[in-house]
Amino acid sequence: MLKGLLDLHNLLRWFILILLLVNIIKNYASINKPFTTGDKKLGLWLMICAHTTFLVGLILLIIKLTQLPAGVSVMKNDALRFSFVEHPVAMLIAIVLITIGRGVFRKNISDAKKHTRAATLFLLALIVILAMIPWATSSLVPGM
Ligand code: HEM
Ligand code: HEM
Repeated sequence: MLKGLLDLHNLLRWFILILLLVNIIKNYASINKPFTTGDKKLGLWLMICAHTTFLVGLILLIIKLTQLPAGVSVMKNDALRFSFVEHPVAMLIAIVLITIGRGVFRKNISDAKKHTRAATLFLLALIVILAMIPWATSSLVPGM
């Protein structure tokens, strides 16, 4: 179960990264165009992937926490602190940025502002995510 969840979480990273790039490019390229249903749908797919990754990450976190040996100090160990504190907190911030970015279409602002705000929030999320993915310790292909 842990392996399956880890592979799913690993795979979802690629969906999020691709959807973030597509959303950022599409929004920046459409600044002078209307905010369409297509833009909303792209944001919705990103939202579904981000929230599912969050949920799977939360379950992983809980399972892994229960498997920690007694008496181990998470905060004093760099690898454990990354997995249990830094990665989850940073990714939660990124997912909040994505959720706010996706919500801009409901705001009473011009379509140009909707595109720039969404693109900027998604870009910030992308930077945080790229910085906090455990590139060195995770397989690039899920399941390998
Ligand atoms: C612990 C897990 C989750 C939490 C805490 C959570 C939290 C939230 C919150 C606070 C919003 C409202 C955002 C807003 O006001 O715009 C939201 C919206 C949404 N969530 Fe989640 N979510 C979770 C899991 C999921 C999962 C697993 C999915 C995918 C299957 C999902 C898909 C969505 C979608 C599609 C929306 C946007 C609905 C819309 O704007 O029309 N969420 N979620
Ligand atoms: C955009 C959001 C996220 C991305 C792209 C992401 C990406 C990843 C990747 C690639 C791995 C390594 C998987 C492997 O070894 O096969 C991982 C591990 C993990 N993630 Fe995430 N993650 C995200 C959000 C979260 C969140 C929100 C949580 C917790 C609430 C979380 C908890 C974990 C845990 C506990 C591990 C296992 C760490 C370990 O085994 O050392 N992740 N994540």
